[in-house]
Amino acid sequence: MSRVYVTRPIPNNGIELLNRELGAGEVSVFSEDRIIKRDELLAGVPGAEAILSILTDPIDAEVMDAAGPQLRIIANYAVGFNNIDVEEATRRGILVTNTPGVLTEATADLAWALLMAAARRISESERYLRAGQWEGWGPQQFLGVDVCGQTLGIFGMGRIGQAVARRAQGFGMRVIYTKRSRLDAEAEQALNATRVDKEALVRESDFLSLHSPLSPETEHAFGATEFKAMKSTAILVNTSRGAVVDEPALARALKNGDIAGAGIDVYEKEPAIHPELMECENAVLIPHLGSATHATRARMAEMAAESIVTYLQGGMPKNVVNPEALK
Ligand code: DGY
Repeated sequence: MSRVYVTRPIPNNGIELLNRELGAGEVSVFSEDRIIKRDELLAGVPGAEAILSILTDPIDAEVMDAAGPQLRIIANYAVGFNNIDVEEATRRGILVTNTPGVLTEATADLAWALLMAAARRISESERYLRAGQWEGWGPQQFLGVDVCGQTLGIFGMGRIGQAVARRAQGFGMRVIYTKRSRLDAEAEQALNATRVDKEALVRESDFLSLHSPLSPETEHAFGATEFKAMKSTAILVNTSRGAVVDEPALARALKNGDIAGAGIDVYEKEPAIHPELMECENAVLIPHLGSATHATRARMAEMAAESIVTYLQGGMPKNVVNPEALK
Protein backbone atom coordinates (compact mmCIF):
# COMPACT_ATOMS: atom_id res chain seq x y z
CA MET A 1 0.00 0.00 0.00
CA SER A 2 1.38 3.43 -0.99
CA ARG A 3 0.70 6.85 0.49
CA VAL A 4 0.05 8.37 -2.94
CA TYR A 5 -2.00 6.91 -5.80
CA VAL A 6 -1.63 8.48 -9.25
CA THR A 7 -4.46 7.43 -11.55
CA ARG A 8 -2.56 7.76 -14.83
CA PRO A 9 1.06 8.38 -15.83
CA ILE A 10 1.76 12.13 -15.90
CA PRO A 11 4.97 13.88 -17.02
CA ASN A 12 7.93 12.42 -15.19
CA ASN A 13 8.93 15.55 -13.32
CA GLY A 14 5.77 15.18 -11.21
CA ILE A 15 6.42 11.54 -10.37
CA GLU A 16 10.09 12.26 -9.66
CA LEU A 17 9.13 15.01 -7.25
CA LEU A 18 6.78 12.67 -5.38
CA ASN A 19 9.39 9.88 -5.30
CA ARG A 20 12.15 12.21 -4.18
CA GLU A 21 10.19 13.86 -1.39
CA LEU A 22 8.09 10.94 -0.14
CA GLY A 23 10.14 7.88 -1.16
CA ALA A 24 9.60 5.80 -4.29
CA GLY A 25 7.88 3.02 -2.34
CA GLU A 26 5.21 5.48 -1.24
CA VAL A 27 4.04 6.36 -4.74
CA SER A 28 1.98 4.08 -6.90
CA VAL A 29 1.09 5.02 -10.50
CA PHE A 30 -1.57 3.24 -12.56
CA SER A 31 0.56 1.43 -15.08
CA GLU A 32 -1.30 2.09 -18.35
CA ASP A 33 -1.58 5.32 -20.30
CA ARG A 34 -5.35 5.26 -20.68
CA ILE A 35 -8.40 6.28 -18.67
CA ILE A 36 -8.51 4.08 -15.60
CA LYS A 37 -11.65 1.94 -15.32
CA ARG A 38 -13.88 2.36 -12.32
CA ASP A 39 -13.02 -1.03 -10.79
CA GLU A 40 -9.31 -0.37 -11.32
CA LEU A 41 -9.64 2.99 -9.59
CA LEU A 42 -11.51 1.46 -6.67
CA ALA A 43 -8.86 -1.26 -6.42
CA GLY A 44 -5.98 1.24 -6.66
CA VAL A 45 -6.85 3.80 -4.00
CA PRO A 46 -7.18 1.77 -0.75
CA GLY A 47 -4.76 3.02 1.89
CA ALA A 48 -3.83 6.20 -0.03
CA GLU A 49 -3.43 9.45 1.88
CA ALA A 50 -3.32 11.31 -1.43
CA ILE A 51 -4.88 10.73 -4.84
CA LEU A 52 -3.46 12.52 -7.86
CA SER A 53 -6.44 12.39 -10.20
CA ILE A 54 -7.05 13.17 -13.85
CA LEU A 55 -10.06 15.15 -15.08
CA THR A 56 -11.57 11.98 -16.55
CA ASP A 57 -11.77 10.25 -13.13
CA PRO A 58 -15.03 10.79 -11.26
CA ILE A 59 -13.88 11.07 -7.65
CA ASP A 60 -16.97 10.62 -5.50
CA ALA A 61 -17.99 9.20 -2.12
CA GLU A 62 -17.49 5.63 -3.34
CA VAL A 63 -13.87 6.34 -4.28
CA MET A 64 -13.28 8.17 -0.99
CA ASP A 65 -14.78 5.18 0.88
CA ALA A 66 -12.59 2.79 -1.10
CA ALA A 67 -9.51 4.85 -0.23
CA GLY A 68 -10.36 4.86 3.47
CA PRO A 69 -10.47 7.40 6.31
CA GLN A 70 -6.74 8.22 6.00
CA LEU A 71 -7.35 9.97 2.64
CA ARG A 72 -6.30 13.62 3.17
CA ILE A 73 -5.89 15.22 -0.23
CA ILE A 74 -7.11 14.88 -3.82
CA ALA A 75 -4.86 16.80 -6.22
CA ASN A 76 -6.56 17.15 -9.59
CA TYR A 77 -4.31 17.37 -12.63
CA ALA A 78 -6.44 20.16 -14.20
CA VAL A 79 -7.72 23.60 -13.41
CA GLY A 80 -11.32 22.34 -13.73
CA PHE A 81 -12.45 20.07 -10.89
CA ASN A 82 -16.03 19.22 -11.83
CA ASN A 83 -15.01 15.53 -11.83
CA ILE A 84 -14.62 15.69 -8.04
CA ASP A 85 -17.45 15.71 -5.51
CA VAL A 86 -15.94 18.66 -3.65
CA GLU A 87 -18.86 18.90 -1.23
CA GLU A 88 -18.34 15.32 -0.15
CA ALA A 89 -14.58 15.81 0.16
CA THR A 90 -15.16 18.93 2.26
CA ARG A 91 -17.59 17.09 4.52
CA ARG A 92 -14.88 14.50 5.14
CA GLY A 93 -12.14 17.10 5.70
CA ILE A 94 -10.32 16.08 2.51
CA LEU A 95 -8.47 18.88 0.72
CA VAL A 96 -9.01 19.29 -3.03
CA THR A 97 -6.43 21.13 -5.15
CA ASN A 98 -6.22 22.03 -8.85
CA THR A 99 -3.64 23.51 -11.23
CA PRO A 100 -4.66 27.11 -11.96
CA GLY A 101 -2.46 29.68 -13.66
CA VAL A 102 0.06 27.36 -15.28
CA LEU A 103 -2.23 26.47 -18.19
CA THR A 104 -3.72 29.91 -18.81
CA GLU A 105 -1.58 30.91 -21.79
CA ALA A 106 -1.64 27.50 -23.48
CA THR A 107 -5.43 27.34 -23.23
CA ALA A 108 -5.81 30.90 -24.52
CA ASP A 109 -3.54 30.04 -27.46
CA LEU A 110 -5.70 27.04 -28.25
CA ALA A 111 -8.92 29.06 -28.07
CA TRP A 112 -7.35 31.38 -30.64
CA ALA A 113 -6.24 28.47 -32.80
CA LEU A 114 -9.83 27.24 -32.86
CA LEU A 115 -11.21 30.71 -33.51
CA MET A 116 -8.89 31.24 -36.48
CA ALA A 117 -9.37 27.72 -37.81
CA ALA A 118 -13.16 28.07 -37.73
CA ALA A 119 -13.10 31.61 -39.16
CA ARG A 120 -10.92 30.57 -42.11
CA ARG A 121 -12.28 27.04 -42.53
CA ILE A 122 -8.87 25.46 -42.07
CA SER A 123 -9.93 21.88 -41.18
CA GLU A 124 -12.63 21.72 -43.81
CA SER A 125 -10.38 22.98 -46.61
CA GLU A 126 -7.50 20.73 -45.54
CA ARG A 127 -9.80 17.71 -45.69
CA TYR A 128 -10.77 18.77 -49.23
CA LEU A 129 -7.15 19.20 -50.29
CA ARG A 130 -6.01 15.89 -48.81
CA ALA A 131 -8.89 14.13 -50.53
CA GLY A 132 -7.36 15.25 -53.83
CA GLN A 133 -10.37 17.42 -54.70
CA TRP A 134 -8.54 20.73 -55.18
CA GLU A 135 -8.42 21.78 -58.81
CA GLY A 136 -6.68 25.11 -58.30
CA TRP A 137 -7.40 28.58 -56.93
CA GLY A 138 -10.95 29.86 -57.18
CA PRO A 139 -12.48 33.28 -56.36
CA GLN A 140 -15.25 31.73 -54.26
CA GLN A 141 -13.49 28.82 -52.62
CA PHE A 142 -13.81 28.35 -48.87
CA LEU A 143 -14.72 31.91 -48.05
CA GLY A 144 -14.55 32.58 -44.34
CA VAL A 145 -15.15 35.54 -42.06
CA ASP A 146 -12.87 38.43 -41.07
CA VAL A 147 -11.34 38.39 -37.62
CA CYS A 148 -9.64 41.81 -37.49
CA GLY A 149 -11.80 44.58 -36.10
CA GLN A 150 -14.65 42.29 -35.05
CA THR A 151 -16.33 41.89 -31.67
CA LEU A 152 -15.06 39.13 -29.39
CA GLY A 153 -17.41 37.96 -26.63
CA ILE A 154 -15.94 36.25 -23.57
CA PHE A 155 -18.24 34.21 -21.35
CA GLY A 156 -16.36 34.01 -18.04
CA MET A 157 -13.63 36.65 -17.83
CA GLY A 158 -11.31 34.86 -15.41
CA ARG A 159 -7.61 34.18 -16.00
CA ILE A 160 -8.08 32.35 -19.30
CA GLY A 161 -10.82 34.67 -20.58
CA GLN A 162 -8.55 37.66 -19.96
CA ALA A 163 -5.63 35.95 -21.70
CA VAL A 164 -7.87 35.38 -24.73
CA ALA A 165 -8.96 39.04 -24.61
CA ARG A 166 -5.30 40.20 -24.45
CA ARG A 167 -4.58 38.42 -27.71
CA ALA A 168 -7.58 40.13 -29.31
CA GLN A 169 -5.82 43.49 -28.95
CA GLY A 170 -3.43 42.45 -31.71
CA PHE A 171 -6.45 42.02 -33.97
CA GLY A 172 -7.95 45.39 -33.11
CA MET A 173 -11.03 43.75 -31.64
CA ARG A 174 -13.65 45.16 -29.34
CA VAL A 175 -14.14 42.84 -26.37
CA ILE A 176 -17.37 42.33 -24.48
CA TYR A 177 -17.59 40.00 -21.51
CA THR A 178 -19.67 38.55 -18.72
CA LYS A 179 -18.31 38.08 -15.23
CA ARG A 180 -19.86 38.12 -11.77
CA SER A 181 -17.90 41.20 -10.79
CA ARG A 182 -16.64 43.83 -13.18
CA LEU A 183 -12.91 44.10 -14.00
CA ASP A 184 -11.32 47.27 -12.69
CA ALA A 185 -11.29 50.26 -15.03
CA GLU A 186 -7.60 49.90 -15.84
CA ALA A 187 -7.99 46.25 -16.88
CA GLU A 188 -11.07 47.08 -18.96
CA GLN A 189 -9.19 49.83 -20.72
CA ALA A 190 -6.14 47.64 -21.38
CA LEU A 191 -8.36 44.95 -22.89
CA ASN A 192 -10.71 47.35 -24.69
CA ALA A 193 -13.38 45.41 -22.83
CA THR A 194 -16.91 46.22 -21.71
CA ARG A 195 -18.98 44.15 -19.29
CA VAL A 196 -22.41 43.29 -20.69
CA ASP A 197 -25.24 40.95 -19.75
CA LYS A 198 -25.49 37.52 -21.31
CA GLU A 199 -28.19 38.59 -23.78
CA ALA A 200 -26.00 41.35 -25.21
CA LEU A 201 -23.01 39.03 -25.28
CA VAL A 202 -24.97 36.52 -27.35
CA ARG A 203 -26.49 39.13 -29.64
CA GLU A 204 -23.40 41.25 -30.35
CA SER A 205 -20.48 38.80 -30.52
CA ASP A 206 -18.91 37.91 -33.86
CA PHE A 207 -16.82 35.35 -31.97
CA LEU A 208 -18.01 33.98 -28.66
CA SER A 209 -15.44 32.16 -26.54
CA LEU A 210 -16.49 30.22 -23.43
CA HIS A 211 -14.28 30.24 -20.34
CA SER A 212 -16.52 29.58 -17.36
CA PRO A 213 -16.16 26.59 -15.07
CA LEU A 214 -18.92 23.97 -15.27
CA SER A 215 -21.41 24.42 -12.44
CA PRO A 216 -25.18 24.03 -12.05
CA GLU A 217 -25.47 27.70 -13.16
CA THR A 218 -23.41 27.26 -16.33
CA GLU A 219 -24.58 23.80 -17.42
CA HIS A 220 -26.24 24.20 -20.85
CA ALA A 221 -25.84 27.98 -20.62
CA PHE A 222 -25.66 27.86 -24.43
CA GLY A 223 -28.53 26.07 -26.14
CA ALA A 224 -31.11 26.56 -28.89
CA THR A 225 -32.32 29.94 -27.53
CA GLU A 226 -28.82 31.40 -27.43
CA PHE A 227 -27.86 30.05 -30.86
CA LYS A 228 -31.00 31.52 -32.43
CA ALA A 229 -30.17 34.89 -30.86
CA MET A 230 -26.55 34.87 -32.16
CA LYS A 231 -25.51 36.42 -35.46
CA SER A 232 -25.77 33.96 -38.33
CA THR A 233 -22.14 34.88 -39.14
CA ALA A 234 -20.95 34.21 -35.58
CA ILE A 235 -18.52 31.54 -34.44
CA LEU A 236 -18.63 29.76 -31.08
CA VAL A 237 -15.42 28.59 -29.41
CA ASN A 238 -15.46 26.27 -26.41
CA THR A 239 -12.33 25.33 -24.48
CA SER A 240 -14.02 25.27 -21.05
CA ARG A 241 -16.21 22.24 -20.37
CA GLY A 242 -18.46 20.47 -22.86
CA ALA A 243 -21.62 20.60 -20.80
CA VAL A 244 -21.64 24.41 -20.79
CA VAL A 245 -23.08 23.85 -24.28
CA ASP A 246 -26.11 21.79 -25.23
CA GLU A 247 -24.30 19.69 -27.83
CA PRO A 248 -27.30 18.46 -29.90
CA ALA A 249 -28.60 22.06 -30.00
CA LEU A 250 -25.18 23.23 -31.24
CA ALA A 251 -25.21 20.62 -34.00
CA ARG A 252 -28.67 21.78 -35.11
CA ALA A 253 -27.61 25.44 -35.03
CA LEU A 254 -24.58 24.66 -37.20
CA LYS A 255 -26.71 22.67 -39.63
CA ASN A 256 -29.53 25.26 -39.81
CA GLY A 257 -27.10 28.15 -40.27
CA ASP A 258 -28.15 29.83 -37.01
CA ILE A 259 -24.41 30.34 -36.52
CA ALA A 260 -21.60 30.10 -39.08
CA GLY A 261 -19.17 27.84 -37.32
CA ALA A 262 -17.67 26.48 -34.13
CA GLY A 263 -14.28 25.55 -32.73
CA ILE A 264 -14.76 22.90 -30.08
CA ASP A 265 -12.22 21.32 -27.73
CA VAL A 266 -14.52 19.87 -25.05
CA TYR A 267 -17.65 17.71 -25.16
CA GLU A 268 -20.56 16.85 -22.94
CA LYS A 269 -19.84 13.13 -22.71
CA GLU A 270 -16.16 12.81 -23.56
CA PRO A 271 -14.87 10.87 -25.37
CA ALA A 272 -18.28 10.49 -27.06
CA ILE A 273 -19.25 13.24 -29.47
CA HIS A 274 -22.80 13.79 -30.63
CA PRO A 275 -23.08 12.11 -34.07
CA GLU A 276 -24.77 15.16 -35.61
CA LEU A 277 -21.92 17.39 -34.47
CA MET A 278 -19.48 15.00 -36.14
CA GLU A 279 -21.36 15.57 -39.41
CA CYS A 280 -20.95 19.36 -39.30
CA GLU A 281 -18.27 20.44 -41.74
CA ASN A 282 -18.39 23.94 -40.24
CA ALA A 283 -17.22 22.70 -36.84
CA VAL A 284 -13.54 22.33 -36.01
CA LEU A 285 -13.43 19.47 -33.51
CA ILE A 286 -10.34 18.56 -31.50
CA PRO A 287 -9.86 16.18 -28.54
CA HIS A 288 -9.62 18.32 -25.35
CA LEU A 289 -6.18 19.79 -25.97
CA GLY A 290 -6.43 23.13 -24.13
CA SER A 291 -3.40 22.60 -21.92
CA ALA A 292 -1.62 20.16 -24.22
CA THR A 293 1.88 21.58 -24.60
CA HIS A 294 4.97 19.83 -23.24
CA ALA A 295 5.89 22.71 -20.94
CA THR A 296 2.35 23.28 -19.63
CA ARG A 297 1.68 19.63 -18.86
CA ALA A 298 5.04 19.46 -17.04
CA ARG A 299 4.10 22.54 -14.97
CA MET A 300 0.74 20.95 -14.15
CA ALA A 301 2.51 17.76 -13.03
CA GLU A 302 4.84 19.74 -10.79
CA MET A 303 1.99 21.74 -9.29
CA ALA A 304 -0.17 18.70 -8.52
CA ALA A 305 2.78 16.78 -7.05
CA GLU A 306 3.89 19.80 -5.04
CA SER A 307 0.42 20.16 -3.51
CA ILE A 308 0.57 16.58 -2.27
CA VAL A 309 4.14 16.82 -0.97
CA THR A 310 3.46 20.11 0.78
CA TYR A 311 0.36 18.81 2.51
CA LEU A 312 1.75 15.43 3.51
CA GLN A 313 4.81 17.20 4.92
CA GLY A 314 2.68 19.44 7.11
CA GLY A 315 2.38 22.58 4.95
CA MET A 316 -0.53 24.13 3.10
CA PRO A 317 -0.77 23.85 -0.71
CA LYS A 318 -1.21 27.11 -2.63
CA ASN A 319 -4.16 26.11 -4.74
CA VAL A 320 -6.79 24.64 -2.45
CA VAL A 321 -10.32 24.78 -3.87
CA ASN A 322 -12.08 23.89 -0.61
CA PRO A 323 -10.29 25.61 2.29
CA GLU A 324 -13.47 25.12 4.31
CA ALA A 325 -12.56 21.40 4.50
CA LEU A 326 -10.14 22.31 7.28
CA LYS A 327 -12.68 24.08 9.51
C1 DGY B 1 -8.24 21.74 -17.33
O1 DGY B 1 -7.16 21.80 -16.74
O2 DGY B 1 -9.31 21.86 -16.73
C2 DGY B 1 -8.20 21.57 -18.79
O3 DGY B 1 -9.42 21.25 -19.31
C3 DGY B 1 -7.14 20.57 -19.19
O4 DGY B 1 -6.81 20.79 -20.53
